[in-house]
Amino acid sequence: MRILAIETSCDDTCAAVVDEGRVLSNVISSQAAAHERFGGVVPEVASRHHLQLANRVVDAALADADTGLEDVEAFAVTRRPGLIGALLVGVSTAKALAAASRKPLAGVDHLHGHVAANFLEPEPLDPPFLCLIASGGHTLLADVRERERFQVLGQTLDDAAGEARDTGARLLGLGYPGGPEIERLAADGDPEAFELPRGMSRDGGLDFSFSGVKTSLLYATRELGEAESERRRADLAASYQAAVVGQLTGRLERALEAGEWEAVALGGGVAANGPLRRRVAQICEERELRLKLVPPQLCTDNAAMIASAARYVEPAAYPGYLEWDAE
Ligand code: KG4
Ligand code: ZN
Repeated sequence: MRILAIETSCDDTCAAVVDEGRVLSNVISSQAAAHERFGGVVPEVASRHHLQLANRVVDAALADADTGLEDVEAFAVTRRPGLIGALLVGVSTAKALAAASRKPLAGVDHLHGHVAANFLEPEPLDPPFLCLIASGGHTLLADVRERERFQVLGQTLDDAAGEARDTGARLLGLGYPGGPEIERLAADGDPEAFELPRGMSRDGGLDFSFSGVKTSLLYATRELGEAESERRRADLAASYQAAVVGQLTGRLERALEAGEWEAVALGGGVAANGPLRRRVAQICEERELRLKLVPPQLCTDNAAMIASAARYVEPAAYPGYLEWDAE
């Protein structure tokens, strides 16, 4: 089955063609530059960019895959969750493409997409596995037993790991998106210079919380004052990164201890983070677990992962999907 998928849940306009788990094309048009001066994604700006880019990104995905619309057997689109205006552009585009040729359309959950990135070639990972998803909008641990669904073991009670990084970066006067900026700066800093809380709740639960570490960073910079904060920026970034990575991997270890696992997978934009990848690799090595790390372009938002999830979602036939809304 050749699937063309569209993903517009946040600030990346994405389209991809996937054939039986093989990625034929994966086009990502980042709007980061448009949002940078605001230090975060502005929903209305994102929607407008999606409108301008959607058709061009679809054309590029078809061209890269060396395929025509007539060869596409089904369409797929992210229906939930995300910025409502941004999602609507993708849903409308997918509906129009599918309806024009009376072909089926699958509505995909964005988080199922992050999980399903692991099912893509080469070396697809078969369930069961434990999946840590950390992105700009979500942080969760998923128990994946089947390709069709997953169970949430724990999730963030406040901010997502990526959002916490973007806020941290703003406090340190860095650009957007903050994750890569903090990683770059932290490489020259001492992760133990400042003691920031890792948010390891005593109840042994698997939920996450990043509001505490964000506030601690704010207080640390206030205490240091502007000039000193500036001078010690690398140490602050390294300590902050260590606290966020420490919480993510701490929860992962808890989940591993609570169950029997053979494999672990990472997903979401934060999974592109070097120190996180290295620490998770170490944990898996110690426990003799298989670790699946998809390449960074499949970690951050993309449409190939949406096409991958669509293979395990019942598609709607024409004209049923014309009534769909974004959620
Ligand atoms: O999955 P994603 O592309 O979009 C959402 O679904 O939110 O994740 C984007 C997030 C941003 O918050 C960004 O700061 C973070 O992923 N990120 C990183 C890195 N690259 C992107 N965080 C830490 N280290 C990185 N190298
Ligand atoms: Zn995402």
